[in-house]
Amino acid sequence: MSNIEELASVAKQLVAGNRGILAADESTTTVGKRLASIGVANSAPNRAALRRMLFTSPGIEQHISGAILYEETLLQADDEAGGAAAAGQARLVQQLSSRGVLLGIKVDTGLAPLPASPEESFTQGFDNLAARCAAYKAAGASFAKWRAVIHIRQATANTPGLPSEAAVAAAARGLALYAAISQAAGLVPIVEPEVLADGAHSIELCEAVTQRVLAAVFKELADAGVLLEGILLKPNMVTPGSSAAPAAPAEVAAATLRVLRRTVPPAVPGIVFLSGGQSEADSTRHLALMNSGALPGPKPWVLSFSYGRALQASALKAWGGQAGKVAAGQAAFMARAAANSAAARGEEEA
Ligand code: 13P
Repeated sequence: MSNIEELASVAKQLVAGNRGILAADESTTTVGKRLASIGVANSAPNRAALRRMLFTSPGIEQHISGAILYEETLLQADDEAGGAAAAGQARLVQQLSSRGVLLGIKVDTGLAPLPASPEESFTQGFDNLAARCAAYKAAGASFAKWRAVIHIRQATANTPGLPSEAAVAAAARGLALYAAISQAAGLVPIVEPEVLADGAHSIELCEAVTQRVLAAVFKELADAGVLLEGILLKPNMVTPGSSAAPAAPAEVAAATLRVLRRTVPPAVPGIVFLSGGQSEADSTRHLALMNSGALPGPKPWVLSFSYGRALQASALKAWGGQAGKVAAGQAAFMARAAANSAAARGEEEA
């Protein structure tokens, strides 16, 4: 297969069969917060135990096509110590590969204040990006992820609204350059421009900002020569701010579809949403509505999921870091994964 055919084939495979992606690429700091919420220390063996609990869930491959990993997990040994695997030693990710779940890797290195507008951020990670992508590919990864973050603030008489032009431009250019580098290394880029839900803004403002951001992202992807058949888009859903009154699920689904139809070319094989702090139930319901007959009209891409918190929250609680509760954690994880698979078919589970 040529590089182009391989990219298009992997992108399609990631959204085939109503399956979605597990985002398990929390940085060491972020996963530490998740572990702290169940009273578990943030050590390499505990991080490995959490990921092992998820990856070895019986039947994971029925609902999960790929998992996005942090570098530590991609290289970690499948043993009690959780250090980097030595040559020839079994790796934790073989638990996924042996079940047919594709390996993804977070290649950005986090956020920093944007000089032109320091209350906003830009994404770091271009140092050695081509070489790192090549090394991840050699370590078994077939796709990558890079997250750009956009803040919303309603303008007032005294404060300008956000995002600034500089923030949108930096997010779009960064994503496009990353996507081009990633494809050149043979990794399918997941392009993630996350418009944050933080704030009390309206759903209308979220819709306008999300549309502006996605339009900028696809212009830059085109200019950078990115093969659209070989990417997946990972956007936020269009919702009111998390401290505003919630919108009706049908309104969220309709506004999200409207923005995607206006901005995402049909050449893109799949759109895999982030959950962005929505509850597990809301993330699932919104996806089901978008895929249901209740919202007719063109949907030229597969609409599926790439959730972090919305796939892991109940599982984390049910597991609680206890060896004796691995099966309970896995059952909770599989219940969310199955419900989201059903939502990818447009069905709501009871
Ligand atoms: P959430 O679904 O928890 O928002 O995480 C998805 C993700 O990968 C964020 O980068």
